Amino acid sequence: MQWCKTCNNVQLRDCLPADVLYSDYLYLTPRSSTLEEHYSYLINFLFSGGYLTSSDTVFEIGSNTGYFLEALKPSVKAVLGIDPAREIGDLARSIGVPTVTDFFNSETAKAAAEEHGTPQMVVGRHCMAHNEWPQEMIAGAADVLEEGGYLTIENAYLMNTLENIEFDQVYHEHMFYYSISSMTEMLKRHGFQLVDVTISLVHGGSIIFVARRGETGGEPSEAVQRYMAREDLFLNSETFARFSSRASEIRDSLVQLVEDLTASGNSVYTYGATAKGNTLLNFAGFTSDQIPYCVDSTPVKQGKFLPGSGIEVISEETVAENPPDYFLLTAWNYQKEIITKVRASGNQHSQFIVPIPFVRIV
Ligand code: TYD
Repeated sequence: MQWCKTCNNVQLRDCLPADVLYSDYLYLTPRSSTLEEHYSYLINFLFSGGYLTSSDTVFEIGSNTGYFLEALKPSVKAVLGIDPAREIGDLARSIGVPTVTDFFNSETAKAAAEEHGTPQMVVGRHCMAHNEWPQEMIAGAADVLEEGGYLTIENAYLMNTLENIEFDQVYHEHMFYYSISSMTEMLKRHGFQLVDVTISLVHGGSIIFVARRGETGGEPSEAVQRYMAREDLFLNSETFARFSSRASEIRDSLVQLVEDLTASGNSVYTYGATAKGNTLLNFAGFTSDQIPYCVDSTPVKQGKFLPGSGIEVISEETVAENPPDYFLLTAWNYQKEIITKVRASGNQHSQFIVPIPFVRIV
């Protein structure tokens, strides 16, 4: 990770080409009560702030399975997803979310606006960090929004990543770690003014940026100023040094715990075939010798093996037949939902190891 002391942009130094990262992409947004609650929160925030109205058309960049637009659709005039993954787009279309299969940039955004009408809002959720050239998406939004139109961006928030020592979030897909200061700077270059932000606990702490197209429009909200003041205090060399040393401490205590548990005859599986889980497992050096299985509800991940650690992914139904003594929660962002689900399935036995921000058994 590299940090710009001027604008507080944090990014990876070495980015892998998009075709290496995404040609065999298996990310499917799960059907999850945590996410449905989050969609309601976000939609309510956008309406109550006056950024969205019921007569608006909304485009979503990287709309994936279309679940967010599905939730938004009844409240607005029209929605359109734009996502490069064809088969995932088929899924979105099958639930009634119109989706164009393409990358989002100036050219494709203009073509979509010509066919589907000018949007009053463009939304990009958890996609601005995944692209080496996020400015192409922002330029595309600037090209289709009229003056006064809104761009809403949701992303993991650098402050949460650092405060919660979420070192497992640092991997090749996450090329940027946005702060309010860095996002303000990037938006400005494309004629957007940041007007509001809100924080949500989803995915370990996410920030929602709302920007208006055009230079005028008064002061940003009180929330922008309050969070910016925190960034000014907190983003310094000591914070990054602490992040690094705490990451090593978490790894060491996790390795010790799993060694102790397995040495005394306990079985340990991981829960959640997440991207961040692979960072954690490989940083800790775990293999299928210590942790034989990873449980995940996504059918396309089941029967496959986690990269590096070689741990086999099995379904929730399979593990229910013979549950382990411990689950290491590699999907710790769904902690409450997963534990509730496991208990509701009748498994009162397995305990859960939560690795972040410190290793503990719950
Ligand atoms: P995600 O949060 O997208 O993590 P990352 O961005 O690090 O890949 O992944 C969550 C994973 O957890 C996903 O593969 C689905 C899985 N999952 C379950 O197996 N059971 C559940 O109940 C939930 C909510 C998620």
